[in-house]
Amino acid sequence: MTMDSDATIDQGSAERLSQVRASIETRLEELLPESGNERDLVALAMRESTLAPGKRMRPILLMLTAEGLGHEGTWGLDLGCAVELIHAASLVLDDMPCMDNASLRRGRPTVHLKFGEDVAILTAVALLSRAFGVIASISDLSPVVKTQLVELAANAVGMQGLVRGQFQDLRDGQQSRSPEEIAMTNNLKTGVLFGAIVDMAWLITSSEETIRPTLQTFAMELGQAFQMYDDLRDRCPDSDKDQGKDAGKSTFISLYGEDKVREQLHVHLSNAELNLRRVFRDADMIASYMKMVFNKAALTA
Ligand code: IPE
Ligand code: IPE
Ligand code: MG
Ligand code: MG
Ligand code: MG
Repeated sequence: MTMDSDATIDQGSAERLSQVRASIETRLEELLPESGNERDLVALAMRESTLAPGKRMRPILLMLTAEGLGHEGTWGLDLGCAVELIHAASLVLDDMPCMDNASLRRGRPTVHLKFGEDVAILTAVALLSRAFGVIASISDLSPVVKTQLVELAANAVGMQGLVRGQFQDLRDGQQSRSPEEIAMTNNLKTGVLFGAIVDMAWLITSSEETIRPTLQTFAMELGQAFQMYDDLRDRCPDSDKDQGKDAGKSTFISLYGEDKVREQLHVHLSNAELNLRRVFRDADMIASYMKMVFNKAALTA
């Protein structure tokens, strides 16, 4: 993955990617509550926050990884959408005044600004519970596997994942931190959900135990790269969300500066690709997709 090259993708992969994207949009619409009643602000906010134009990186990654491991059914789609609901909930909370106090998300006003803080909190709780409900009700999947999937999601959200990462980011981020501490926080707030994604793909395809750690290393390297990319975007004026939210926070950028972070980002991406290619004979589809995600905007000085 040479991320400074133009993000090109062959026609077959591009077509598959647009099918995957379309299936995610349709399924997310179906899985969210209807919002016919305009006074039902939580349902409205659940739909608006989730269906707003996000990258859908997590469900896409889950579907492509599962496909690469031989999955042909629809479990990957529902699991991917469940993870997207978790991610959407985390963004609603992250934007609140008591956290990052953001006003723009996915090019739109943040949920608490549009609907109020009460609705924002309830929306996040409702999205999380919907995510677990979606996993629990996937049809034709054994109850044992479903229980394991629910456990994976629970661990990714809770004190071993997003919640701890977010807490560390908010509180420890105010002080100076060692590189190891920053990497740990980034791993928890961003990498662990990627880890759950590849674990889920691994689980539903009954794949070999031996590839699981390699998939995890791929996910963690990707997580480190992605949070660096996100931190660079915080300084990038073409963003669809607020900039400058990391001002005063200890990040790799405050520690090393943008140029060094771009270099490190490329190292993490190369490591991610290396591990990807250890698992998949044909990793080109996922590798090309990554190239598209890490576009040049934030990566060139
Ligand atoms: C933003 O995630 C939050 C982080 C974990 C860095 P994305 O950049 O994937 O946000 P969307 O889904 O495209 O809006
Ligand atoms: C948040 O990181 C990561 C989450 C898990 C929500 P950021 O606070 O940097 O994410 P953005 O930049 O607001 O999307
Ligand atoms: Mg934040
Ligand atoms: Mg934020
Ligand atoms: Mg950010």
